[in-house]
Amino acid sequence: MAPKADFGVEWELLETARPVESENGVVVSGHPLASRAGVEILERGGNAIDAAVAVGFALAVVLPTAGNIGGGGYLVYRSAVGEVRALDYRETAPSAATPDMYIGPDGEPTRDSLVGHLAVGVPGSVAGLAAMHEELGSLPWADLAGPAIELAREHRIDAVRHLSTAAGKQLLSRFDTSSALFLVDGEARSEGSAWSQPLLAATLERIARIGGTEFYGGETAELLVAEMERGGGLITRQDLLDYRAIWREPVVFEYRGWRLYSMPPSSSGGVTQAILFGALEGFDPLPPFGSHELVQLETEVMRWAFVDRNQYLGDPDFVEMPLERLLSPKHAREIRERIVRGVAGSTPPFTGVTQESAQTTHYSVVDGEGNAASITTTLNGAFGSGVTVRGAGFLLNNEMDDFAAKPGHPNLYGLVQGEANAVAPGKRMLSSMSPTIVESEDGELLLVVGTPGGSTIITSVFQVISNVLDHGMSLAEAVAAPRVHHQALPDILFYEEAGLSARTVRALEEMGYELQERAGYSGDINAIQAIDGGWVGVADPRRGSGAMAAASTSGTRGRDHGRH
Ligand code: DON
Repeated sequence: MAPKADFGVEWELLETARPVESENGVVVSGHPLASRAGVEILERGGNAIDAAVAVGFALAVVLPTAGNIGGGGYLVYRSAVGEVRALDYRETAPSAATPDMYIGPDGEPTRDSLVGHLAVGVPGSVAGLAAMHEELGSLPWADLAGPAIELAREHRIDAVRHLSTAAGKQLLSRFDTSSALFLVDGEARSEGSAWSQPLLAATLERIARIGGTEFYGGETAELLVAEMERGGGLITRQDLLDYRAIWREPVVFEYRGWRLYSMPPSSSGGVTQAILFGALEGFDPLPPFGSHELVQLETEVMRWAFVDRNQYLGDPDFVEMPLERLLSPKHAREIRERIVRGVAGSTPPFTGVTQESAQTTHYSVVDGEGNAASITTTLNGAFGSGVTVRGAGFLLNNEMDDFAAKPGHPNLYGLVQGEANAVAPGKRMLSSMSPTIVESEDGELLLVVGTPGGSTIITSVFQVISNVLDHGMSLAEAVAAPRVHHQALPDILFYEEAGLSARTVRALEEMGYELQERAGYSGDINAIQAIDGGWVGVADPRRGSGAMAAASTSGTRGRDHGRH
């Protein structure tokens, strides 16, 4: 009999992740209404990319903490016949950015990388949606923003969004355009109230009518530059005109016979996943889920994978990275050799505490043909820089904080990073986003996975995939199962509140680990798995996401299993 998994006795999520199933396609995103927008497009005969573009626009309306057109993201795509592509539409530093722009007179980092106009990187989202549509879409571009425009005219605020806006109140109230859009008399709009965003509806209509270039050279660009000038930001007309989404080769690696595809730099996600799985593969059999033996192995491989990530990775157009060495079996072996079973390891000097106040969002789409899109997109912090573009109705990111503002000094996620990720004009800031696709042993689509969560993105994706592949969990169990996190520095093993049993915690402490129970949950995995004759989608119960199944491609609506 297989050894028994050990869950914390008070872990409550296991019963709450509800799968949806369909042979016609599934959409799982951070908001049930955005998933519905995607399904609507599938049912009108759109493919996974058409649906993904519709979800992207819809998230900009219903999930403004994270879903965005003022931010950036990444796509990993696998066609039904197995062609895999990766699209990088990460923000770039404005041309006037300098390496020390966030260092104050006292030599310490300021808050300018986090709040206000200086924090904003040149947005990539619209360029990304346009590029994926141009290469891979099938329905007319002009039709894909339709569901989002309808939602912008009016939709109802749900409980989760009411709470996230209440939590962002302080930031939003610092900027008049943001408080006018998001707050009523200084308070978050109430749950159930109807919200109209006419300026955003007009922006989306322009983009739908004219194309993605409108954002970079049309009225939206004018409004964005005017906003920068008003608030002392750096983004110029030329910065917008120069922005390009970039197709890249995905990171590909094998794990115990499965094949994984994930995002290459400028995200650290794929390379770090490859290091994690490469090191874990050498431990066979793995100890059972939730045991102190397994958590120790996971913690140590996370430690060493983050040491590499933080030191070496950055924008490939700016830095040389020893990728071949990092992805080699020899490197995986060297990591394993540093691990002493039953004894806590330690992180060498320079090689930060993750706070998860922030927001990003992941969505997974599979259409009836089996084309799959795995997309993570972000403004970085919740509500980004806090700045809403006057006259255009959308928030701008604070992605500049993902650079190492001061190499060796922790950022928002406590990540201590080096020169490879220093600020430079036109450079992309290093990300942790890890949109990932897994193929089965016979080369078929198996999983589409990703999540928000800052630096915990990498470790959450790693654990959910391992839960399915190594621990035989259903996708719903794998997503709902408690997660741990370690990122080299700070040298602390984080775990979700009540996620480890008291016995496991005690054993890890005896090994010498410093453990910290994190209030609240880590990440929000929105995933799809291939099953016999179709797809099953699971929305993470942690943050109000929703999974929806396409009923058919000829008209009737899918069933809505979103949790509000
Ligand atoms: O690109 C990154 O790694 C971060 N900007 C992601 C931020 C994030 O996931 C916040 N979500 N909770």
